[in-house]
Amino acid sequence: MQALMRKLKSNFKKTAIITGASEGIGAALVNELLQNNYKVIALSRNYKKLLKLKSFNSKYKNDLKVFSADVTNSSQLLSVAKEINSLDLLILNAGIYEPVLIENFSIEPFIKQSEINYLGVIKSFDAFIKKMLLTRSGTVLIMSSIAGWIGLPKASAYAPTKSALRLFAQSIRYDLAEYNIVVKLCSPGFVNTKAVKVNDFKMPGIIEPNVAAKLILKNLSNKKFEITFPWFFSTLMKFLTYLPDNLSYKFIKYVTSYEQEK
Ligand SMILES: NC(=O)c1ccc[n+]([C@@H]2O[C@H](COP(=O)([O-])OP(=O)(O)OC[C@H]3O[C@@H](n4cnc5c(N)ncnc54)[C@H](OP(=O)(O)O)[C@@H]3O)[C@@H](O)[C@H]2O)c1
Repeated sequence: MQALMRKLKSNFKKTAIITGASEGIGAALVNELLQNNYKVIALSRNYKKLLKLKSFNSKYKNDLKVFSADVTNSSQLLSVAKEINSLDLLILNAGIYEPVLIENFSIEPFIKQSEINYLGVIKSFDAFIKKMLLTRSGTVLIMSSIAGWIGLPKASAYAPTKSALRLFAQSIRYDLAEYNIVVKLCSPGFVNTKAVKVNDFKMPGIIEPNVAAKLILKNLSNKKFEITFPWFFSTLMKFLTYLPDNLSYKFIKYVTSYEQEK
């Protein structure tokens, strides 16, 4: 009887897919979703790290499936899609951050970050969205960044990918609304993950990945299009986008060069 109840309960769980789930914000989201009654399909390239995530969540072993898939590889993504029946939540999170130093300027970080951060999201969207179109329901969460709001030093390769995601989300939102599918954009400030270890400056308002994951889940079902945090830093950055360009430029230049000189 208990086994039957467990099976029935499990059949009513929503299913989520997360790309870039082996560590950082993605892994924290996996943990948070499992604790909130979701079945989770976790994707990233490194299978060993995904197995670690699975053993960390051994309590939920029947609700967590992991697949090694590179978001730049459509055929890998499509073969994962074949394993899935229905989908309620698609989190397009995989991304990398590589700062550009003008002294070592090269095209590589631009190509790499465009292929993973932008085209990787589009390829993942393409592989999985058909499941939601069939059921005419679901939520798509796209992981952008505050860095997509306004130009910042050394972010010339990263920021445009996040800005492009913002416009993709804003545009596709209209088309998916006709299918009752909700699009949300997530624009975090600094989160303490491997991705920001390259930063040699003090990151204002930095939060831990589990805090970020809780904030994302808390805001998933509200009516707001954009989820952004932490409050103070995101409000300050939003304010800068409203200022005339010469003022925001001077402010950011002053603050970031002060950091460099310290
Ligand atoms: N940390 C921040 O302060 C911050 C702020 C704003 C936005 N974000 C965004 O949040 C997202 C997650 O970042 P994070 O800070 O959690 O970074 P992270 O700790 O470095 O994790 C990145 C994740 O993406 C996966 N990944 C990287 N390239 C991939 C590829 N080609 N195919 C599939 N998976 C790939 C990595 O797994 P594998 O290596 O196993 O593939 C890893 O699971 C990114 O989109 C990032 O731009 C982060």
